[in-house]
Amino acid sequence: MGFSILAVKMKSAFLQLLISFSLLLSPCQSLSPQTFLFGTASSSYQFEGAPLADGKGLSNWDVFTHRSGGITDGSNADIAVDQYHRYLEDVDLMEDLNVNSYRFSISWARVLPKGRFGEVNMGGINYYNNLIDALLLKGIQPFVTLCHYDIPQELEDRYGSFVSHEFQFLEPLIFGRYPRVMEEHVGNMLPKFSSNEKVKLKRSLDFIGINHYASYYVKDCISSYCAPGQWVFRSHGTFDLRDDKDGVPLGETTSLVWLNVYPLGMINVINYLRDRYNNTPMYITENGFGDGVGQNTTNELNYYDFKRIDYMDAHLNAVLQTIRNGADVRGYFVWSLMDNFEWNDGYTVKFGLYHVNFTTQKRSPRSSASWYKNFIQKNSHNINKLAKLHQAA
Ligand SMILES: *[C@@H]1O[C@H](CO)[C@@H](O)[C@H](O)[C@H]1NC(C)=O
Ligand SMILES: *[C@@H]1O[C@H](CO)[C@@H](O)[C@H](O)[C@H]1NC(C)=O
Repeated sequence: MGFSILAVKMKSAFLQLLISFSLLLSPCQSLSPQTFLFGTASSSYQFEGAPLADGKGLSNWDVFTHRSGGITDGSNADIAVDQYHRYLEDVDLMEDLNVNSYRFSISWARVLPKGRFGEVNMGGINYYNNLIDALLLKGIQPFVTLCHYDIPQELEDRYGSFVSHEFQFLEPLIFGRYPRVMEEHVGNMLPKFSSNEKVKLKRSLDFIGINHYASYYVKDCISSYCAPGQWVFRSHGTFDLRDDKDGVPLGETTSLVWLNVYPLGMINVINYLRDRYNNTPMYITENGFGDGVGQNTTNELNYYDFKRIDYMDAHLNAVLQTIRNGADVRGYFVWSLMDNFEWNDGYTVKFGLYHVNFTTQKRSPRSSASWYKNFIQKNSHNINKLAKLHQAA
């Protein structure tokens, strides 16, 4: 069992920290670990629904969406896309797409309903066993995120909000220490590692996961002045994010304020990680195009999602270019298989290759679904050849 990924993404103005691992298939199965993975991505709270099924406990998001009024359309994910009950149908959709992997997360509250207390809930274990078996039966490799925002409420009550000091940064997992610049500025807040821990930390991950959607200009606000404003962040060091310079946008703007289209950003991110971390294997664990509802009033469902296709085409080609230039990228997961509950945006933002009618739960392919299928058919052979060259080198 491989371990690990740390990725930070900007989505709904949240910083997200993900820890994933990949269930590598045994040698007798048809996919070797080196096969380039083309998949779709999802997460438990955004997809599963069934918040109280089969012994599940409440997660922080179950509680938050029911309590706060913090969701744009006042919705919650009590049903979401009901994947808990419809996973067989959804695995069939994946088979139609010709993907060979599925990224999903495990809801801790399903498996450990009482957080640190109580028993493991076999109802939850059975669900993930069944999902994994259904995927393997179709030759689709499970790619599991250990935690994707939703944690048992018991743990939230105990440890505070999700972004807590309990969580890790990437650099120590590779070099056994924090970056020098972090030590200079916030050294007294960082945990001290014993020499034994340093040795254990060093190169303790198998791959880096990258969630990339959009690009920004970043300004350091520690050694230079930044006017206060919405995009000045203090929680993770002080910096100012802009998507324009002197009024000129960095990339094409979209209906979502945080999402611009700048495929060169994908190339830059991959090349940066390749160079800084000695070409540790990388997976693009998320990349995708979201639409705000009502942006196209003539066709709200927007089955003909040409902007999504353009976005995916440009970003996938960017990934291919980095592989040609020697980056050890081993997979790409589009966010997302289907429309789902987009955190604070509720159901007002659509990322799906499949449209979901949330009244009937009917899934219908958009143009991007067949586009992705064709892309995989056309390119997987060459990508596998290329990717294997680097892995052998
Ligand atoms: C809205 O959708 C229609 C039909 O798919 C498309 O032709 C049109 O360009 C879209 N309009 C906008 C503003 O995106
Ligand atoms: C969902 O399906 C129902 C029943 O077919 C239909 O009346 C409704 O218009 C659909 N809603 C959307 C948003 O497509």
